Amino acid sequence: MAYFCNSRIVLIFGVLVFAFQSCKEQEKVEQKTVEKKVEYEMYTPSEMATFMNAMYAYNVQLKQQIIKGETPVVMPLDLMKMHTAEMSNGHGRTPVWNSFVNVFIEAQQSVADTLSNVDLKERYNDAINNCLACHKTECTGPIPKIKKLLIQ
Ligand code: HEC
Repeated sequence: MAYFCNSRIVLIFGVLVFAFQSCKEQEKVEQKTVEKKVEYEMYTPSEMATFMNAMYAYNVQLKQQIIKGETPVVMPLDLMKMHTAEMSNGHGRTPVWNSFVNVFIEAQQSVADTLSNVDLKERYNDAINNCLACHKTECTGPIPKIKKLLIQ
């Protein structure tokens, strides 16, 4: 009987220790989430990354227009930013970048060129393929996202 009581106490004690530990662990997890949030808030995209996202948004809109059968007539982006915008660490105007940048600018401008004889969808896909050409070596992360811009 005495043995039984003792083991009950041990059991209760064990449960208490367990409960206490799991509370502590939860606290730790919460602390980690808070740390991550702070890191995320401190991230500021470079001028070039912001411009790339603006180009992406513009092309999403172009794709919708073209699919609807509309003719885009404005190119609101300042594409010269490709030559001036400051880039994030690890990125720069490499020889590969320089070999792609002007061809891309021309292709992007030609999408809204109402005087062009080339098929609109072809001009649009050509611009997107020029995004991809540079991204293949200069910044591979967004490639799947950019590929979705192509009109099949
Ligand atoms: C001449 C090379 C080049 C061309 C052309 C180019 N990109 Fe980029 N892109 C880059 C580089 C380099 C970065 C990384 C910039 C940085 O982190 O400062 C980048 C970054 C991005 C990003 C990620 C931005 C972020 O939030 O970090 C997206 C999205 C993107 N490009 C989409 C596009 C689209 C869409 C096009 C075509 C309309 C395009 N890019 C054309 C080189 C290019």
